[in-house]
Amino acid sequence: MSIQLQTVTKEYMLGKTKVHALRGISMNIEQGEFVALVGPSGSGKSTTLHILGALDRPTSGDVLIQKATVANMSDKQLARLRREKIGFIFQSFNLIPVLSVFGNVEFPLLLMKTPKDERKERVMTTLKQVGLQDRAKHKTEELSGGQRQRVAIARALVTNPSIILSDEPTANLDSKNGAAILDLMEELNEGNKVTLVFATHDETIVARAKRVVHILDGQIV
Ligand SMILES: Nc1ncnc2c1ncn2[C@@H]1O[C@H](COP(=O)(O)OP(=O)(O)O)[C@@H](O)[C@H]1O
Ligand SMILES: [Mg+2]
Repeated sequence: MSIQLQTVTKEYMLGKTKVHALRGISMNIEQGEFVALVGPSGSGKSTTLHILGALDRPTSGDVLIQKATVANMSDKQLARLRREKIGFIFQSFNLIPVLSVFGNVEFPLLLMKTPKDERKERVMTTLKQVGLQDRAKHKTEELSGGQRQRVAIARALVTNPSIILSDEPTANLDSKNGAAILDLMEELNEGNKVTLVFATHDETIVARAKRVVHILDGQIV
């Protein structure tokens, strides 16, 4: 999936102070790219990811997803686009504590009305990909931080998204699991042309990304 940002700005009000989180970001992400967004803390990486995934609207400028202007889409259209085409993996995993690992990963498929047999097969295949097949029945609160991260990754992958947006995808993972997840992502990128955009400090991700975008003070440098 392609996404374009055209002179995007984002301002937040912090009490009476205006915070210029993004000061005119333009970028063109083509289907199948693997982009690392790097920059110091507070430079605007997370804000950029939120706007790329239409989770948040810019203060000014345009966002185009598949050449369609996000500002012109209805909430319903946007919700569907996010659900079916975009895989989000963020730091606050937003897992549902009362559901099992299986239930959390199954959730987006329920929203998409995927038939039961297919759901089960896809959930188990995806759990296997992230190495959690023997944790399917556990509650997420019984898992370690790294395991929860992998549940969030499985939930993002189970819908076969066209693009994966992630804030520090390998944070919380030890080097072995981090490398396995990166291998999996790279496979999806190279084999299935899934677009990857990762905000990261992880040097191994930066080294493996095909394009590195440096952000400083809300601008691309
Ligand atoms: N909800 C918010 N309210 C106020 N300021 C915010 C909010 N989110 C982010 N900011 C500010 O916007 C700037 C960019 O933040 P962020 O995109 O989170 O940067 P990064 O992910 O690179 O650390 C920072 O100065 C941050 O404090
Ligand atoms: Mg951030």
